[in-house]
Amino acid sequence: MSQTHNILLTGTSGYLGGTLLTHLHDQPKSTLPYNTLYALVRTESQALSVREYGATPLTIDLNNPTSITTSIVEHEISIIFFLIDAFLPHTQKTMISALETVRRKTGRNVHFLHTTGAKAFSSHVGIAQELSDTDELYEIQRSTNAPREYSWFSQIARTNADIIDAAEEHGVLSYIFAPCIVYGEGTGYGNKISIQDVAVVKAARAAGRVYKVDAGKPVWPVSHIHDTTTLYAQILRSILCGVEIPHGRDGFYLASSGCVAWDDIYSAFAGVLYKRGVIDDAVVEMADGEALGRMGAGLDLRNGGVAVQLGGSCHFAAVNGSRIGWRPEYPPEHILEAADQEVDLILGTLDG
Ligand SMILES: NC(=O)c1ccc[n+]([C@@H]2O[C@H](COP(=O)([O-])OP(=O)(O)OC[C@H]3O[C@@H](n4cnc5c(N)ncnc54)[C@H](OP(=O)(O)O)[C@@H]3O)[C@@H](O)[C@H]2O)c1
Repeated sequence: MSQTHNILLTGTSGYLGGTLLTHLHDQPKSTLPYNTLYALVRTESQALSVREYGATPLTIDLNNPTSITTSIVEHEISIIFFLIDAFLPHTQKTMISALETVRRKTGRNVHFLHTTGAKAFSSHVGIAQELSDTDELYEIQRSTNAPREYSWFSQIARTNADIIDAAEEHGVLSYIFAPCIVYGEGTGYGNKISIQDVAVVKAARAAGRVYKVDAGKPVWPVSHIHDTTTLYAQILRSILCGVEIPHGRDGFYLASSGCVAWDDIYSAFAGVLYKRGVIDDAVVEMADGEALGRMGAGLDLRNGGVAVQLGGSCHFAAVNGSRIGWRPEYPPEHILEAADQEVDLILGTLDG
């Protein structure tokens, strides 16, 4: 068992990273034998917060490759969990190159976990078939193409392949972690709400009702924030305990207990939004051009068009996690049963 790893956790003021930091803090130290846990911060108040969770704040200017390399090498960081940008690979590649220097300097194995999203395995990048995270995904990520209307979105898949390539080149063990529709209250010191189900609420408020954006009944994997967090933690625990787990081209990890139809999420959320007086009608309808325009006005379209943010199909199943001892606690239908609390959490946060 290695006691010598220094870890860098990024995104700790965010929903996923904040909840992971809290979770790690709550675990018996003997189950997570690391030396120092650094948390990337950008403000003094974030620095104070991470200290409360037992982490050492580290400020790195991610726009400055020299700053990234110097910090990682000086602090002999040998494990990085990246939870900041699913889309572009530049920062991650610099970090991976710095990890090689740490490996040469310390003789330790070095590890890089990149957080992508289930969208990289979905119709939004031209994938229609059913997949599991143990399939040969590297080649698919390298070659799949997004629909012509938003061809730029292929980059999310390309980034995953680029990170695996960079890690292979630099002798770094890499893991591609895919959160999906994550729900449930975050327990971190910063953002406590998620992304895609929040987009459903924001779009509904702007449009006056919940609209569906796809024909048929497409499905998407879902995961409670607790289960998503425990998969991150199980990967970290395995690394710290020196257990070799699938990595590189085999190192894709979907955090999900199963899929739910978007239509069922829309209906459950529409019912609650109607009860709360936020929308005038609980019936879900197909969006026309005008409705899409109103929905878009409620969303930040830099994150992709309306259909990318709250629709699409993704037949992606989690297998790798169970192979390393991860057991999700919440079945997929739980997101529907928890719709009341989830919508209240989202409305309270957006209005607070
Ligand atoms: N939540 C989901 O359901 C979900 C699903 C699939 C994929 N993902 C992906 O997972 C990642 C984390 O998601 P999240 O929900 O935790 O997002 P979030 O709540 O918006 O948090 C983003 C985090 O990234 C940090 N960050 C952004 N730019 C930074 C920079 N230049 N330097 C340092 N820190 C920076 C933010 O710090 P500040 O607070 O200082 O801005 C914050 O801590 C994202 O890439 C997201 O696309 C999330």
